Formats: sequence, structure tokens, C-alpha cells
Amino acid sequence: MKCTRCKATAVVALPSHNAAFCPECFLDFFSKQVDKGIREHGLMTKQDRVLVALSGGKDSLALMLELGRQGYDVTGLHVDLGIPESSPAARGVVERFCEKYGFPLIVRDMVKEGLPIPEVKAKLRRPICSACGKIKRYFFNQTAREQGFTVLATGHNLDDEVARLTSNTLRWDSAYLSDQGPVLEDEDGFAKKVKPFWRVTEFETANYAFLMGIENHYAPCPYSSGASFSTLKSLWLELEDKMPGRKMDFYHGFLERGKPAFQQTEKQDSDILSPCTRCGYPTSAEVCGVCRIREALAERD
Ligand code: AMP
Ligand code: FES
Ligand code: ZN
Repeated sequence: MKCTRCKATAVVALPSHNAAFCPECFLDFFSKQVDKGIREHGLMTKQDRVLVALSGGKDSLALMLELGRQGYDVTGLHVDLGIPESSPAARGVVERFCEKYGFPLIVRDMVKEGLPIPEVKAKLRRPICSACGKIKRYFFNQTAREQGFTVLATGHNLDDEVARLTSNTLRWDSAYLSDQGPVLEDEDGFAKKVKPFWRVTEFETANYAFLMGIENHYAPCPYSSGASFSTLKSLWLELEDKMPGRKMDFYHGFLERGKPAFQQTEKQDSDILSPCTRCGYPTSAEVCGVCRIREALAERD
């Protein structure tokens, strides 16, 4: 197999792009896809102060490295969830990564914040993942707003986005369908959120991380039974195998035609937000979700 561009030996085949690349041309292709994704939807500019949420997985580390290489002003943010089986390994990978490349890093420690996830799980008696997601989003937003970052970036890729879109579509969840996309503008006290990897797949990101020598964090969260949307992702794998390019067409078509239609119908009834009476975080209730979790933890058994 030869590289489509320079005829050297190819190491990555991409049927959806009708191409195969040698390492050097692949890295160039990858950078151009990310750049195109950023420009196409006005995700951010070189003037933005970008906070990159780093989980320790390959996607977010690859994102940080690539944005740094492209000249964006990036700072890492890691939320240490305080899960003994997985958090120390994740934090270690993030700290070593930022040290190696000289990236500034902010760590928010859930043990110090009084919100260790194992304790939250023991107290709540409902699936921990949604509470955990809520806590992470809270600290992403709070850190971005309090420390003057203009954009918050996460490592979601095309496969994540398409799986989420499929899930939202299967339920015809018009509120989510009017909101989903690579950029969520700042409003109501929330930081602007972007997904600069929306044009690249998990496979492409994994190849990028491998070719760039990024150390990976392998300890999965002990509370989740696997990657989110794993059934939908494997369905898409099969579909894409039979019909290369379908995944991007579906997502692109949604952004161009589906989302605007849902935005029309959803405009009227969005929630009115006001600051949480305890912590000031924007919420549609009087007390925000995280303050309510704190209250539950403070109650005696
Ligand atoms: P996930 O929902 O685990 O697939 O993560 C999606 C994205 O959220 C990652 O690519 C990161 O950008 C961010 N993220 C997830 N967990 C953390 C964490 N503990 N600390 C910082 N960022 C995170
Ligand atoms: Fe939040 Fe596992 S990472 S519950
Ligand atoms: Zn609050």
C-alpha cells in the first residue's frame, strides 16, 4: 500500500477519504482536518484562552498536543475524581504529559472539594455516571469562568458525536437535537464549549496518538460497564465498513439541515436560569445539582 500523496509506504488506510498515508502525510492530513473543523464552525481563534479538559485518555491528550502545535493558547484541566482504582493512574498520565511538553495544568481534586466519586456513589443510589458527568461539567465551567478562559475544549471525536446524535435521534429528543454540535456558545453564565476533533474519528485519533508517542491511560472507570454508547458505536462501525463516508455525511447533514430545523421549534421554551443561591452557578432550580449532591453527602446515614 502506497501513500496517496507521496508514494512512500502507507501505514494508515482511510477508506472514508479514499486515501492511505505514510506517517508524515497522515499527521499533516490530521492537522488539516482539525484546522478545517475549527474554522468551519468558528470554534476559536489564536486570541482565545483555551482550557482543555484532560481525562488522561488518548483523545484529550492528542487534542491538547495538536492545539498546542497549531499555536493556540492552551492550559490543561484535569478533574481528579478520587476513585482509587483509576484516578491516580489518570492523573499521573496527565501530569507527566503536561510536564513533558511544558503545558500549564490545573487539577481540581474531588477529595479536597468534598466530592469523591465513590462517596457520591454510595450516597446517591442511582447510576453514578450522570452525577459524575454533572460534577465534571460543574468544575469545567467554574474553572473556565473564574480563571478567565474564553473557551473550554473537550476531546470528543466524530464517533462520539455520531453515537450521541444517533441516540438523540432514536428518541427524537428535540431539545438535545437543537443543541448538539461542535460548538456551544457561552450563555447564561456557562463557558463556550467546543469539540475541535469533531471531524476526526476514534481510529484517526488513535493513530495520531500512537505516531506522536502519547502515553495512554488504560485503567477504565470501575463504575462504567464500558465506553459510552458502545452498542451504537459498533453498529456504526459495521455501517461505515459497508458504506465508507456515511458517518461524516450523517453528521454533516445534521449540522447543515437537521439542527437548524430543531432550533426553530425549540427556541421558545428554553429554561430560565438564575444563579444557585449557595454557590452562584447557573441553574434552573434554586439550588444547583452539585450543591444538592453536597447536601446529600452531608446528611447522616
Ligand atoms: P468521556 O465522557 O469520558 O468520553 O470524556 C469526554 C471528554 O471529556 C474527554 O475527551 C475530556 O476532554 C473530558 N473529560 C472526561 N473526564 C475528564 C476528567 N476527569 N478531567 C478532565 N476532563 C475530562
Ligand atoms: Fe464518572 Fe466513571 S468516570 S462514573
Ligand atoms: Zn450550587
